[in-house]
Amino acid sequence: MAFIQLRNIGKTYALGGIETQVLQEVTLEIGRGEFVALMGSSGSGKTTLMNVLGCLDRPSCGRYMLDGRDVTAMSPQDRAFLRNQKLGFVFQTFNLLPRTSVLDNVLMPLAYSPSSGSRPEARSRAESLLRRVGLGSHLHHQPSQLSGGQQQRVAIARALINEPALLLADEPTGNLDSRTTEEVLKIFQELNREGVTILLVTHDEAVASHAGRIVRIRDGIVEPEGPPRSRAGAAAPADAPVPRPHSTGGGHPFLSSLLGMRRMLQTALTGLLRNTMRAALTTLGIVIGVAAVITMMEIGRGSSSSIQKTIAGMGANNLLILPGAAASGGASHGSG
Ligand SMILES: Nc1ncnc2c1ncn2[C@@H]1O[C@H](COP(=O)(O)OP(=O)(O)O)[C@@H](O)[C@H]1O
Ligand SMILES: [Mg+2]
Repeated sequence: MAFIQLRNIGKTYALGGIETQVLQEVTLEIGRGEFVALMGSSGSGKTTLMNVLGCLDRPSCGRYMLDGRDVTAMSPQDRAFLRNQKLGFVFQTFNLLPRTSVLDNVLMPLAYSPSSGSRPEARSRAESLLRRVGLGSHLHHQPSQLSGGQQQRVAIARALINEPALLLADEPTGNLDSRTTEEVLKIFQELNREGVTILLVTHDEAVASHAGRIVRIRDGIVEPEGPPRSRAGAAAPADAPVPRPHSTGGGHPFLSSLLGMRRMLQTALTGLLRNTMRAALTTLGIVIGVAAVITMMEIGRGSSSSIQKTIAGMGANNLLILPGAAASGGASHGSG
């Protein structure tokens, strides 16, 4: 079975009661190790299809099989896990975390990956990826100190940190000049030669020509393809295993989850220290909220105990409220 198999995929958006069909009966297969460009004009449904392929969005109908697993039948948690383990994303706008070093940006996906190995191991993997995209001397820079092309290369390194089998790139060169575009496309071709399956979304014919195969989409319908062209790179044969040069250091599940937890705490602490003002204001908000709740509870408790004391002062420990009892001057006459 092909690595990616889409059968009659449809996607409909309902906006203000009007339904718009954005993808119609998309049937497509992509083999392991292919480098495919998805081409189409603006609004043709490229991003919608990429979001379905990247498990970021669910199709309205049809079936999506990825590496032999039915993605359309998975729970949101399983899809998120699959996304983290098998997929890497590169976007037009880089989507790097500001005020976070290049190295920490690349390490970020591991915070959600329970089997990502020890911190030093992950760090050396991130460093080697950054060296590979030509940023070995920029590990501690912040994204704002880099050019667009450099930022996109950081995003590529981040997409590769979990050694994904499929790399999805949505207009990755849309914000880059032609020289930087060539550099980025060359990196994609190299990765493809090493066995990574790549889906590159673009509206630019020149960019698409770097791929081994072009799939065209128009108004949500995938057009029939012509005869296959020669591949851009010597891609791995279909269904060949993707080389995974580094161990992911799975180990014992309990140790893995401890490591994952530690990494999450580290990430949370780093985030807090980096945004001290925001953290202080959030804490102040929480303190005021909790104090208000405690005050309300105490006022309630105070009035309840004062009522109980009043009842006790009347020489009773129960207050009977009887239906239909006549009352005058605040005193009940009773009803029998
Ligand atoms: N969340 C959404 N809600 C409603 N319509 C959407 C949504 N996302 C995309 N669309 C519509 O779907 C069509 C295809 O969008 P998109 O997949 O982003 O196209 P492309 O990436 O090819 O430019 C557009 O007409 C767009 O307005
Ligand atoms: Mg788009």
